[in-house]
Amino acid sequence: MNKISAAITGIQGYVPDYILTNKELETMVETNDEWIVSRTGIKERRILKGENKGSSDLGAEAIKLLLKKTKTDAKDIDLIICATATPDMLFPSTACLIAEKVGISNICAFDIGAACSGFLYALTIASQFLETGKHKKVIVVGADKMSSIVDYTSRETCVLFGDGAGAVLMEPNHEGLGIKDTILRTDGSGSKYLRQPAGGSLKPASHETIDAKEHFIFQDGQPVFKAAVKSMADVSEEIMKKNNLTADDIAFLVPHQANKRIIDATSRRMGVGDEKVMLNIEKYGNTTSATIPLCLWEWEQKLNKGDNLILAAFGGGFTWGSIYLKWAYDSKK
Ligand code: UT7
Repeated sequence: MNKISAAITGIQGYVPDYILTNKELETMVETNDEWIVSRTGIKERRILKGENKGSSDLGAEAIKLLLKKTKTDAKDIDLIICATATPDMLFPSTACLIAEKVGISNICAFDIGAACSGFLYALTIASQFLETGKHKKVIVVGADKMSSIVDYTSRETCVLFGDGAGAVLMEPNHEGLGIKDTILRTDGSGSKYLRQPAGGSLKPASHETIDAKEHFIFQDGQPVFKAAVKSMADVSEEIMKKNNLTADDIAFLVPHQANKRIIDATSRRMGVGDEKVMLNIEKYGNTTSATIPLCLWEWEQKLNKGDNLILAAFGGGFTWGSIYLKWAYDSKK
């Protein structure tokens, strides 16, 4: 029997209905459509409205649709990994809450936190569970209700983020398809530039932390931008070189959607043309753990069995990484 590799065998996204446009943001903070589009590429983003709804609701919707689409029985799933920076609560894990919402119990389910690189971290972890042969049907879901930690009086951050989720089914593959290589990195010295300062054990919630708006995202944009441009491009080039891939070999770059300028810098360094870059930041903004699966979901029909994809992300931590995978099925109907 050939070595087992871990392949994505189904993909599904879910975004809430409410569309927050740049025009509406102009009524909330001192900003304008021209600035937002030229500096970030974002035109609108989705927001999860309503009481008592968290990231688990986004993730659960994506998984319910995924199970239906792939005709998978919920009871056959043996592992759920949820990547999120906006868990419903610090504990229990959002993966546990999602499992309950989709009618799955008695399996291994846990969250991983790597901010915007979370989906790449979760895919890498999932691939190792599959490669041992112990797990057969694994779901990786990236789900983030970013609107829950965005300060809608801060123009520096409120224009950037949106809510969404994306889930993949992963199964063992014996044809050498699926995840071929992964590179994951961290640099904790970047933590001062991008963080949610309070609400954890370091600074539990208090009147002071609320008054200081420390439960919202803090981002010092420029150092994050500089590090993101360099790191995402470096790691994408590195994984290409390591696997003897040229730009011609690559069907698509699937980049984290934080800023179109960061994506452009990465694709330029890889030598990959715009037609090979998955880009939907204009519709959804930065949905953190959900950006990469939302892209795969929207491009699914263009993907063919054997296509070489490079996934790349950068985010809070700092964390960053890239994954080289061979798409495992023909998606065209
Ligand atoms: O996914 C996680 C990782 N995160 C990222 O990768 C994000 C990385 N950073 C970025 O994408 C960019 O730094 C931002 C999009 C956040 C900001 O773009 P920038 O080109 O770095 O702008 P800046 O922060 O240098 O600000 C330039 C100017 C400032 O005004 P002054 O000081 O030049 O008068 C800002 O106050 O733009 C101003 N500004 C705005 N103006 C209109 C900042 N935000 C806005 C806004 N509307 N929303």
